Amino acid sequence: MRGAREAMRTQVGIVGGGPAGLLLARKLSLAGIETVVLERRTREYVESRIRAGVLEWGTVEQLRDAGVGARMDSVGLVHGGCQLASGNRSVRVDFEGLTGRSVMVYGQTEITRDLYEALEAAGTRVVHEAQAVSIQDALTDSPRIEYVLSGSSRIVECEFIAGCDGFHGISRKAIPDAARSEFSRAYPFGWLGLLSESRPVSEELIYSKSSRGFALASMRNPRLSRYYIQVPADERLEDWPDEAFWEELRRRLPEDAADALETGPALEKSIAPLRSFVSEPMSHGRLHLCGDASHIVPPTGAKGLNLAASDVHYLCEALVRYFASGDESGLKDYSRKALSRVWKAMRFSWWMTSLMHAFPERSAFDQRIQEAEYEYVHGSEHGRRALAENYTGPPY
Ligand code: APR
Ligand code: PHB
Repeated sequence: MRGAREAMRTQVGIVGGGPAGLLLARKLSLAGIETVVLERRTREYVESRIRAGVLEWGTVEQLRDAGVGARMDSVGLVHGGCQLASGNRSVRVDFEGLTGRSVMVYGQTEITRDLYEALEAAGTRVVHEAQAVSIQDALTDSPRIEYVLSGSSRIVECEFIAGCDGFHGISRKAIPDAARSEFSRAYPFGWLGLLSESRPVSEELIYSKSSRGFALASMRNPRLSRYYIQVPADERLEDWPDEAFWEELRRRLPEDAADALETGPALEKSIAPLRSFVSEPMSHGRLHLCGDASHIVPPTGAKGLNLAASDVHYLCEALVRYFASGDESGLKDYSRKALSRVWKAMRFSWWMTSLMHAFPERSAFDQRIQEAEYEYVHGSEHGRRALAENYTGPPY
């Protein structure tokens, strides 16, 4: 590279413009802290990614506090419970009655749009098609992000870096191996998801366990349904024409739901693998990780986006304190605090995955244990309360 590289200065450089990076930028800018978001994709690409859509109440309140809750409050669906089915048996988990809290069904795609609009209106800098390639000097007071835009290499000089670049990003890997531990579990299956222009089969989500495998009936709005079925990890999308999907879904839902199922044109269909993953710690000097950059959960408990939001809550609080008074204690404690909540969600999403899926290699003993676990939740208010408490989200 010839000549001096173009440099930008900011207080917090944010790598990645997914929900974690965008929410952090929004909250910091409301607190008067300057940020730059670098996002390697186009805005259209980021806004069209289809992801889960169940928000814990803490996430709902954060979005409202960040001034991006208006559309969510007008079109989002408040759910006071969900159905947990096994074959033709089903029980309602009454979130509202058991915990006093509900969840909000509102797609991540919509949240991303709301955040982009708010950032744009406030003039917060988001640079698209900007691929971060390295993080430098994280252990000093002036860390830097090197990125490539339109073929030329550039620099963001910052006081802090937030690594919000998802599982495949560069931020986590900028923490040296010797300073980092990884914990992971792979599951021998994935979820085949279909977004359909049709009326949702039920007013609440149905998590359904059957001998043929797991199925989930979810939704985006009263005319848009989102369904999933468990498939082997190496399944190919080409082998699942829409008709085959609907037929298999019907076989895995309780009979009354299967009979009521309305099909419709498929707007999107994809397969996602299931895994649990945590990288510790979440901080390295002045680099702090948020969201999928540091941890992945299987989608069964709908925790991915909610964990990104709780990380952002802790990090934002710590940065605001630092910039107000020079007090670094919140930043030093960020990783511990965030990980404590992350591991609770890891445990819950692993538990719910184990409870609801068919495991190809499971022994007859483990099979019976799974059935007994379901019976316990079905029959015990305590069991359902534990589920409801975790599903609606432990406090920050
Ligand atoms: N430079 C710039 N941007 C990058 C880079 C890079 N080197 N690598 C990745 N990115 C961008 C991606 O294009 C993506 O837009 O970082 C963003 C990361 O966003 P997400 O993967 O959505 O992760 P996060 O913001 O943590 O949100 C977590 O998303 O994956 C779901 O289930 C997850 O709902 C949860 C939520
Ligand atoms: C979804 O609507 O996409 C969804 C809902 C709940 C989950 C996972 C995904 O647990």
